Amino acid sequence: MIKKWWKEAVIYEIYCKSFFDTDGDGLGDLKGVIEKIPYLNELGINCIWFTPIYCSPQFDNGYDVSDYYDIEKDYGGLEVFEELIEKAHAAGIKIVMDMVLNHSSNKCKWFIESRKSKDNPYRNYYYWRPAKPDGSEPNNWGNYFRTGNGSAWTLDEQTGEYYLGLYGEFMPDLNWECAELREEIYSMMRYWLDKGVDGFRLDVLTKIKKPAGLPDVLDREPRDDGYCVFACDCQEGIHDFFRELRSNTWAREEFDAFGLAEASGIRYDNALDFLLPEREELDLSYHFQIVNRAPNPPSVLYYKEVQQGWMENFAKGIWPTQHLANHDMPRQTSRFGNDKEYRERSAKMLATVTHLMPGTVFVYQGEEIGMVNCYFDSIEDYNDRYTIGNYWAGIRAGKTPKESLDAFKHVSRDNARRPIPWNDSKNGGFTTGTPWIKLDPNYTEINVEKDMANKNSVFNYYKKLIALRKQDETVVYGDFKMFYPDDEKLVSFARSLNDETLLVVANWSDNNVDFTLPDEFAGKELCVVLTNIEENIGKDVSRTLEPWEAIIYKIN
Ligand code: GLC
Repeated sequence: MIKKWWKEAVIYEIYCKSFFDTDGDGLGDLKGVIEKIPYLNELGINCIWFTPIYCSPQFDNGYDVSDYYDIEKDYGGLEVFEELIEKAHAAGIKIVMDMVLNHSSNKCKWFIESRKSKDNPYRNYYYWRPAKPDGSEPNNWGNYFRTGNGSAWTLDEQTGEYYLGLYGEFMPDLNWECAELREEIYSMMRYWLDKGVDGFRLDVLTKIKKPAGLPDVLDREPRDDGYCVFACDCQEGIHDFFRELRSNTWAREEFDAFGLAEASGIRYDNALDFLLPEREELDLSYHFQIVNRAPNPPSVLYYKEVQQGWMENFAKGIWPTQHLANHDMPRQTSRFGNDKEYRERSAKMLATVTHLMPGTVFVYQGEEIGMVNCYFDSIEDYNDRYTIGNYWAGIRAGKTPKESLDAFKHVSRDNARRPIPWNDSKNGGFTTGTPWIKLDPNYTEINVEKDMANKNSVFNYYKKLIALRKQDETVVYGDFKMFYPDDEKLVSFARSLNDETLLVVANWSDNNVDFTLPDEFAGKELCVVLTNIEENIGKDVSRTLEPWEAIIYKIN
């Protein structure tokens, strides 16, 4: 297995707006990130992924980019970002930028030009189509955020044509069939690489290829607004786009960077086609097989089946990713753990499994102190476009405001976007002003200062897990073997490299569970490397595990 820095990395995702505010405007900023570099060093992470911090009208908190070459002034602008790159690098932390290449903002210069006339040089950067002969939209695709009338098409009066936006009228889709657009994108990405950026997370990358002729969706029931949501993932021909993108950007000899695709279309059963190194397409993919599945949450059996599938690919040479949450997901302790009586223990158990599975690990800000979901009673306290779109769709369908909000609050992306509570002072010390979105009122209980001070906290457990990855190569490069795949509560697997084996034993449930040491380890000496119930150190390995108990053993 070829060694790479990004295979060994723990990537910490920062949602800048909610991280730390230094100028009192209620929005987190890049100076705030610079100020917290010592905190990130203490935690031990070695790479930051920034969700988009480019200039943006913020319709979707930065995923609507209006200037791909500049940084949002509210976050400090380009100069502060350059300072950040330098200081982060000096502190041993790499920087990954989010690249939004499927769509731009409707305020982007490219789009402003494109809409001016049918023969504008930028016209072809976007998808423009006339109405159907009967006057209706060019096809039946719906937009994800349910903006406007719900269609993926918006009529632009200037030229009388429709433009496509899978995320609605404010985020028009870029037309990757246009060679000039592709060239512009590559040179823009090299501009950031030249500034020292170490890699890209590529937003909804599997959607950049649209099916030829943009046909109607025929195999799906229309939504209540009459439109069909079209996933548009991994359409024929997408491999060519990936190869060209890669060879023109991060894979160039002068850079030591990587490309990670957000890839709802890549699953363990088709992953080899995209991720095998010899295909020269993508280095990593962020898949949704665990985090995005109904019923919510997926069962432990299903979790193991998906991991097993990915690990078979791992044995064939691809590099997986490990994550249970991000800025689009509920908090992982609420979704997969027990955020009431076992909040801390289940947060640690989930982290143990995630950090010991093969693959690059992601930590989403606040996860390291065991932050949880937080619900409000009024839609006014929500900002997430999905929550708002679905809420109003519910109201239109006759639900009461409470029913409509209750149906979505558990999966609202705002659960992850509440500001980080740094201490128990007003607004958790996040800002001296008015936060752009309300904090979880539990910040007097769950906050960074408190967690750092407690030696048994979630934070201090994460620190040990991250340190273990640095100390022990088995965590990164070791082979994988799953035990008890049919047990509904237990997750157990081994990682082996050279003469060393690490055995992970975890109870993913609120109940006691019996564990028996697999035969192949009988008679061997096992010592505990890390556990979330220290009182049980010294007990037999084969025994009844307590709810959410997790142990890492070393076997020599
Ligand atoms: C990705 C982002 C999400 C955003 C969407 C549209 O899924 O993670 O936050 O809303 O793309 O850009």
